[in-house]
Amino acid sequence: MRQADIGVYGLGTMGSAIALNMAEKGIPVAVANRESEWVADFVTEAGPLSSQIIACEDLKAFVAALSSPRVVLFMIPSGVPVDDMISQVLPLLEAGDMIVDAGNADFHDTRRRSKDLQAHGVHFVGMGVSGGEEGARHGPSMMVGGSAESWARLHPVLNAIAADFKGNPCVAHVGPDGAGHFVKTVHNGIEYADMQVIAELYGIMRDASARQASEIGQVFAAWNTGPLQSFLTEITATILQAEDPQTGWPVVDVIRDQAGQKGTGRWTVIEALKLGQSPSGIEAAVGARSWSSQKDLRAEIAESLTETLSAEVPQDDVLGAAFEAARLLLHLQGFAVLQAASQTYDWALDLSRIAEIWRAGCIIRSVLLNDLADILKDTEDDSALLRYPAIQTRLRVTVPALRAVVAASIQAGVPVPAMSALLAWFDTMRQARGTTNLIQAQRDFFGYHGYERIDADGPQHGPWWSR
Ligand code: 6PG
Repeated sequence: MRQADIGVYGLGTMGSAIALNMAEKGIPVAVANRESEWVADFVTEAGPLSSQIIACEDLKAFVAALSSPRVVLFMIPSGVPVDDMISQVLPLLEAGDMIVDAGNADFHDTRRRSKDLQAHGVHFVGMGVSGGEEGARHGPSMMVGGSAESWARLHPVLNAIAADFKGNPCVAHVGPDGAGHFVKTVHNGIEYADMQVIAELYGIMRDASARQASEIGQVFAAWNTGPLQSFLTEITATILQAEDPQTGWPVVDVIRDQAGQKGTGRWTVIEALKLGQSPSGIEAAVGARSWSSQKDLRAEIAESLTETLSAEVPQDDVLGAAFEAARLLLHLQGFAVLQAASQTYDWALDLSRIAEIWRAGCIIRSVLLNDLADILKDTEDDSALLRYPAIQTRLRVTVPALRAVVAASIQAGVPVPAMSALLAWFDTMRQARGTTNLIQAQRDFFGYHGYERIDADGPQHGPWWSR
């Protein structure tokens, strides 16, 4: 009987795309789906690629179609469905086989599952996959977490299907157990913040300068030819210049301003806070989506809390430089979360390698990531990225523009939560003496918490306690 190198279970949009990608690369792939009737349709749609596809009716046939050690890749909704499928497939597997969860899983679940499956001798791989349907079909960026043994078995297949950056496949074994899913989660946090900064720049041009969508789209198109080139800049330019076929209006003008979220941005913030980090740009982006959902309240308040405000909006080149500063700062925050997690979970994450696999295929791919991959190569430790001379040089050049744009936006009453939060972080980090001396005094005053003096060691209490 013909055997497959890998099995893809779950023929939704992403699962179908990744299975077709494998088939196109000449990798024999077994496929199955909970609703078994989807399988035949999928094989029909695969056309000539179907010669590489082994269609399986049920889980038993699916596992039997795999060469040993077996690789079962789940592309199914994260959470309970993954646990259910693991318990169904496990009795059919043998020691040395592996299960790959390619969904956007919570890395805590991945760590738990890895540990549980270890007891059965089965490898569990948590793999972050980025790039949407297009990426999955023609080359995603993949962040693999799992044992060295599972990576050795998997990487020929993954190298073949990954996005290509100048001959380098955008896939890496980033660390053990939950590392791959954690790195993907932070990728999405960065994605949220980058999208929010873009939306804020659009808001300034639309609301403080009264510019039309298509004109703003041209600004993004121009930015996409220089250091701001990225997938998100590019699609923004295209989106803003697109017309709604029904009304002839710019399509963005007919879309409700309420953003959804599936949770990975929020997870980044929650995990970051637990690690003692505060990626303010990502927090602001998650919060802005939540605020956006209070549509009715906003519509009501807009009627009563009116203010006549105006400001001189900086020129496009200044807006662009502000975008460069904000994009750099939000990446630094994301990488700082990765560094903190790497230390806490003992993952030894290689930041430069992570930047490398984000250079193509994924949603946040950009010229900046190409540069960061090089800049981060020059480090041997986990030193804060704000220390790097190449990063400081960029910040010196671009932050004045961010300051000007945030100031003008505040004066004009245009909300810029991510850009202002990023600037606040930057200003805090370059302040040798901050203001938490006062907070320490307050804590001691009401709770006898103590503080450290600048001129003596050990906990001290204020004069308010000597009574
Ligand atoms: C990717 C995307 C992908 C998905 C996000 C969107 O890297 O391909 O990040 O994973 O589009 O889950 O998340 P929200 O629905 O939360 O915006």
